[in-house]
Amino acid sequence: MNKISIQPIVEKRYSPRAYDSKQLSIETIESLFEAARWAASSRNSQPWRFIYATPDQNETWDKLFDCLIPFNQEWVKSAPFLMLALVQKIDPERNVERKNVAYDLGLAMGNFTMQASHLGIYLRNMGGFSVQKAIDHFNIPEMFEPVIMVTAGYLGNEENLPDHLVVPKGNQRSRKSIDSIIFDGNWDKMK
Ligand SMILES: Cc1cc2nc3c(=O)[nH]c(=O)nc-3n(C[C@H](O)[C@H](O)[C@H](O)COP(=O)(O)O)c2cc1C
Repeated sequence: MNKISIQPIVEKRYSPRAYDSKQLSIETIESLFEAARWAASSRNSQPWRFIYATPDQNETWDKLFDCLIPFNQEWVKSAPFLMLALVQKIDPERNVERKNVAYDLGLAMGNFTMQASHLGIYLRNMGGFSVQKAIDHFNIPEMFEPVIMVTAGYLGNEENLPDHLVVPKGNQRSRKSIDSIIFDGNWDKMK
């Protein structure tokens, strides 16, 4: 099959572990959150919340960094931006659990990621962190739930990375084929 063309900001995205020492300006960081803010959400609830730090914000940086598992700490130490994304899982007006918060946050992070890509900035998401440490370090109330941690920055030189941290890029990355994810509802054909 011929290669199907997609937008460059989608095509060039990948998740690096090596970042350049160039810092992100406050205007740049604000534009990422501005893009996130305009995402769709269930009942327009906008349940996403973000705690972020740049390396000069020592106290917040140290708290965020301490939440990460050692494997992630090994490479995140050179990132210029570190964030914890949370959701407000309880609707405070109706006092009921929101069903779609993970989807809502995913849409916001999709916007954030594409705005970053447009600016030549790359992200890496991390599920490898301690939710309990995040709750303790930031006194997170029960109605909120930490979901994901994220680094962002300009691309750095991978030559300084140990082999086990080097990531595949571009079409070296593996993906399921289109045929194996889109189907007619007949589950017999699906693996
Ligand atoms: C929910 C989630 C959790 C992830 N957790 C980690 C992690 O803890 N550490 C890490 O180095 N990468 C992590 N990743 C990055 C994925 O491994 C990466 O996105 C995947 O291999 C696809 O590569 P690509 O983003 O370059 O296309 C995570 C990604 C997602 C979406």
